[in-house]
Amino acid sequence: MAKKFDAPGAIDFNNDDSNTSANPTFESIFNARMSRRNMLRGSAGLAVTAAIPSFGLAGCGSDDVSAAPVERLLGFAAVAKSLADRVIVPVGYSATVLYALGDPLFATTTAFKNDGTDADFENRAGDHHDGMEWLGLSSAGTPSASANDRGLLAINHEATTDETRSSFFVHADGGTTTLPRPASETDKEVALHGLSIVETRLVSDKWAYVQGSSFNRRITPLTEIEISGPARGNALLVTKFSTSATKTRGTLNNCGTGKTPWGTVLTGEENWFGYFTRNSSDNAARGNDKSVVSLNRYGRAQGAASRHGWESAGSEDRFMRWNNSKIGSSADGSDDYRNEMNGMGYVVELDAYDKSKAIKKRTGLGRFAHESAAFSKLVVGQPLAVYMGDDSRNEYIYKFVSNANWDAADASPTDRIATGDKYLDAGRIYVAKFAADGSGQWIELSISNPTVSGYAAYKFADQADVVVNARLAADAVGATRMDRPEWNGVNPANGEVYFTLTNNSNRRAEPSGSSQSAPDAPNPRAYTDTKGTASQSGNVNGHILRIKDVSNAGSAFSWDVYLFGAESSAAAGTVNLSSLTSDQDFSSPDGLVFSPATGICWIQTDDGAYTDVTNCMMLAAVPGRVSDGGTRTLTYPRATGGDLVVTTRVGALPTADTLKRFLVGPAGCEITGLCETPDGKTMFINIQHPGEGTSQANLADVSKYQSQWPSNAGYGAGKRPRSATIVIRKDDGGRIGS
Ligand code: FEO
Ligand code: CA
Ligand code: CA
Ligand code: CA
Repeated sequence: MAKKFDAPGAIDFNNDDSNTSANPTFESIFNARMSRRNMLRGSAGLAVTAAIPSFGLAGCGSDDVSAAPVERLLGFAAVAKSLADRVIVPVGYSATVLYALGDPLFATTTAFKNDGTDADFENRAGDHHDGMEWLGLSSAGTPSASANDRGLLAINHEATTDETRSSFFVHADGGTTTLPRPASETDKEVALHGLSIVETRLVSDKWAYVQGSSFNRRITPLTEIEISGPARGNALLVTKFSTSATKTRGTLNNCGTGKTPWGTVLTGEENWFGYFTRNSSDNAARGNDKSVVSLNRYGRAQGAASRHGWESAGSEDRFMRWNNSKIGSSADGSDDYRNEMNGMGYVVELDAYDKSKAIKKRTGLGRFAHESAAFSKLVVGQPLAVYMGDDSRNEYIYKFVSNANWDAADASPTDRIATGDKYLDAGRIYVAKFAADGSGQWIELSISNPTVSGYAAYKFADQADVVVNARLAADAVGATRMDRPEWNGVNPANGEVYFTLTNNSNRRAEPSGSSQSAPDAPNPRAYTDTKGTASQSGNVNGHILRIKDVSNAGSAFSWDVYLFGAESSAAAGTVNLSSLTSDQDFSSPDGLVFSPATGICWIQTDDGAYTDVTNCMMLAAVPGRVSDGGTRTLTYPRATGGDLVVTTRVGALPTADTLKRFLVGPAGCEITGLCETPDGKTMFINIQHPGEGTSQANLADVSKYQSQWPSNAGYGAGKRPRSATIVIRKDDGGRIGS
């Protein structure tokens, strides 16, 4: 579900707002500026010679060389902003639907009727397709890093379209909006979440998924998953389902993804907290112990309603688990689900090629609202770094550093999950603290750090407690509160890390209350935008920040802001700081993926601010490097305390050759998830929640649907809108983005 730009205090299960810590924006000034050696430039020269077939030597002269095809990145004509209910790609490209909500996965699964009577979503595509990874297959069906015509897609199914509790597009009459929820509706809704693993093939120049492939599978919130890393076996994860605290059921609200260097998939659990509830008297039942502090910090105040009310569907264990109240008599939680929420909020690793391998929650990477997980450049003999963001207002940016040093032989291991054990279970987790001078520091979250172990607001028991309550540990060390960190990606040209900061309605020049923060150097904008007759304040359009780490394991980094989202007509001095033109303007960046083939940085939006003018979109960018621009100073008049002056760092302004809108999606959707075949000639992306703005009351009146995509694109039965994976190809067979 979209992260709407909502008013502070509004209930939005996709936008937690529980960081009321007094953490500063940044207070340490680091004297030593980073070395700003020019690294290999990602944007050096926009003309890239395409791979040229060997012509042999006979008769070759200089003419043959000059005849070689030359590819110009971003050579396409920009797509205009649009409110049309369709997918728009540049002239010379085509987009087709591949795998939509409800599509049958197995040989005996019936065709999707799309009228609310389909029930068996364990056997079908789930809803709200999000992050996605490509896992190549050879013609023999074995893992392949070079296959371009056969592979698996691992697709997150983040959530469902709902107005009040019910996922109404999958119920014939829209379903119940009051409690208790029927078991039949609940079972259906639960199964819409998790992931799909689905085989796809290119046959006769057409991509299609393979119904009945032996690789196909669904992972749902009921699939058994192992707890791995420092929190395995810890008292915080004891439940009635796993009294040994070694396993849990399922993964939930899977948003961004990552692909490990050893060929497994990482999936991030984002807004899981909203699915749980606890009684209005639960604080007292818990004796107001420290678990109450943890629950509040992770967005679950006692008495808060759950998103769907699944806990009300019956006394069976699979429903009771959604009630986090302390209702049992045990001292350790082994007779209820008071600790169940501690089993969600992780980066989860799975082997898409091998159903027999355990799926594992990598607790060492911390527990928060995960988006994507991007790996640093690999250096043999050095640790790996994994970069991650916590998507809620005023939350933090993290990195995990493996204890193990990278061994190139691990790129093609015999046991991929065992390789994950090696690199992702033992390591250190850090949180980012930004300084105004363009430097920054990674601060380790360690129980041996007296600032963590001595934190007054929460008494950490051990390192497991630190990773399970990473937000609290980050509060303790004074991490920088950010404008909702979404996806991140590592530029393959130079290893710099790009973070989308989607927006923040709680950024104010004069903060009111602990949930609001004043602009600072890495989050420098607070302004007011109009949308129709409404106005919205804060960092309405978001920005993209980038980090240059000194080394994978190092504690120092430098940073700047790569791009500021803005309407092209917005004030240049205060809002449109990147001087975006009408071919480039965007709001609320979310998905961000670097193409391994072309090096293009693909930027996807999940917006609610500029949607009076355009549907959500995807842009192609050829970025430079940290510190290729300069500084900008913003002055905010204040009623008290005088002007607030913020100096930030802005990357080199984009040009028509370095940033261009590539795609606009159907009405009400967000654009998310991206992977490519290794040759860069086929791109898969996801259209999430088209028609999300439809009211459940209008379910019977097709004419009132906000969107009828993809049926209006000729795909599938029924008119109800469906999230879907689409395939993008270039008509001349070239690489995507050229
Ligand atoms: Fe699932 Fe933060 O978007
Ligand atoms: Ca989103
Ligand atoms: Ca506007
Ligand atoms: Ca996202």
